[in-house]
Amino acid sequence: MSAVSLRPYVPADLKRCAEIFRASVEELTAEDYSAEQREAWASTADNEEAFAARVGGGLTLIAIIDGASAGFATLKGEDTIEMLYVAPEFACHGVGRTLVDALTRLAAARGAKRLTTEASDVSKPLFEKSGFSAQKRNLVRVGDEWLANTTMTKTLGAEPPPPTRH
Ligand SMILES: CC(C)(COP(=O)(O)OP(=O)(O)OC[C@H]1O[C@@H](n2cnc3c(N)ncnc32)[C@H](O)[C@@H]1OP(=O)(O)O)[C@@H](O)C(=O)NCCC(=O)NCCS
Repeated sequence: MSAVSLRPYVPADLKRCAEIFRASVEELTAEDYSAEQREAWASTADNEEAFAARVGGGLTLIAIIDGASAGFATLKGEDTIEMLYVAPEFACHGVGRTLVDALTRLAAARGAKRLTTEASDVSKPLFEKSGFSAQKRNLVRVGDEWLANTTMTKTLGAEPPPPTRH
C-alpha cells in the first residue's frame, strides 16, 4: 500500500467521513463492544447536522492513500482529539498513527501543554504507542447503551529537540 498523505477536511468530505465512521465502528470494534453498542455508536452519524458539526467544528484531517480517503481525525480546540476513525479496508497500515502524530504536532503548535482523548478500547493500544497514558475509565451513554472508554493524556513539549547538524 502507498504512503499516507494528509489534507484538511472540506465540507464535501462529509459523506465519506460518515461512511468511514459507520464502517469502522461496525467492523473494527467487534472484539470490544457488543452488536447493540456498535449500532448505537454508529447511528450517531445518522443526524447529519450534528455529525457535520462534530467533524467541521474542529480541525479535521483526512488521510489519503492512493487517492482514496482512508480515515479522519479531529482536534477540538487546542488540546483534545475528538474523533479518530479509519476505514476497515485501510486498517493496520499506519493511518491511525499518522493522524494522531499530525494532530499531536498541531496541538503543540497551537500552544497546548497536554493533549487529551477519550480512547475507545480499540484505539487504546494505538494511543499508548503514541505516548499517551491512561488516566481514568469512563462509561458513556450513547443512545440506550453504555460504552466504556478511557481518558488518556500526553504531555507535550517534553520531547527532545531534533539533532543539530555540524
Ligand atoms: C483504532 C483505529 C483508529 C486504529 O487505526 P489503524 O490505522 O488501524 O492503526 P495503525 O495501523 O496506525 O496502528 C498504529 C499502532 O497501533 C497498534 N494498534 C492499532 N489498533 C490496535 C488494536 N486494536 N489492538 C492492538 N494494537 C493496535 C498497531 O499495531 C500499530 O502498532 P505499530 O506501530 O507498533 O505497528 C481503527 O481501528 C479504528 O478506526 N477503530 C474504530 C473506531 C475507534 O475505535 N476509534 C477511536 C475512537 S476514540
